[in-house]
Amino acid sequence: MAERVALVTGSTSGIGKACVERLVADGLRVVINSAKSVDAGRAMVAELGEERAHYVQGDIADAADAQRLVDESVARFGRLDVLVNNAGTTVRIPHDDFTTASPDVFRRLYDVNVVGTWQMSVAAVPHLRESGAGCIVNVTSLAGVRATGSSIPYAVSKGAMNHLTLLLANTLAPAVRVNAVAPGLVDTPWTADWGDLHEAIKVMAPMQRCAQPEDVAEVVATLLASTYVTGQIWVIDGGLSLR
Ligand SMILES: NC(=O)c1ccc[n+]([C@@H]2O[C@H](COP(=O)([O-])OP(=O)(O)OC[C@H]3O[C@@H](n4cnc5c(N)ncnc54)[C@H](OP(=O)(O)O)[C@@H]3O)[C@@H](O)[C@H]2O)c1
Repeated sequence: MAERVALVTGSTSGIGKACVERLVADGLRVVINSAKSVDAGRAMVAELGEERAHYVQGDIADAADAQRLVDESVARFGRLDVLVNNAGTTVRIPHDDFTTASPDVFRRLYDVNVVGTWQMSVAAVPHLRESGAGCIVNVTSLAGVRATGSSIPYAVSKGAMNHLTLLLANTLAPAVRVNAVAPGLVDTPWTADWGDLHEAIKVMAPMQRCAQPEDVAEVVATLLASTYVTGQIWVIDGGLSLR
């Protein structure tokens, strides 16, 4: 994998950051991205080294930014082999609150989670086809598989991302493999103030702990190395779905 180049969206924090660190450790050159936290992105490049890491600011929900993210990645490293569609957003709304879960909330979450993932993939596909071993991994959620999650609009958007994974895998084979990882609760800044839920997961999940970002990065790295695997949604929930 030494020559390969990966672009990880939403990677200045949490799961995306762990993916960057894992892929650099595995020998890939990696493009880091965020919409807002520019200083954090530059600090990661300083730590990982400019030869292996590059930062590009951009909002995946913006069509021009999505194309520019891919263009700047290829301009910096000369190729693109891997796209990890990790950037996402949510709003915490109880599932029975039909007023707060408004059409506007649906549109906002869909713009980032679904349309953002779609336009990043479309921009990357020509380069991934050229790679000879192109690969997309979408970071979805257990909420896209089961009737759970921080809100119904979020869960529906992650379900859409899972189905997009199957459709793209079918459409892009054999040149590009497309898989998804679907984590349950992960200890990241995103869930830092969800204290009650962290405790509940420790009690309910057979593995008796929440996921760490590195648990997700490990599965992403495994999917990149698994050259006969495409169209799979890999749930990472410590066995929570068993109960
Ligand atoms: N944490 C969990 O329990 C959990 C569980 C299942 C799935 N997930 C999924 O995992 C992914 C990452 O979550 P996380 O917990 O690691 O979150 P996080 O720690 O809050 O990190 C999110 C990252 O995405 C960036 N970002 C947000 N919106 C963006 C946009 N529109 N364009 C580009 N970058 C953007 C953020 O930077 P800026 O804000 O500076 O732009 C940050 O780097 C999400 O897709 C989430 O749905 C998380």
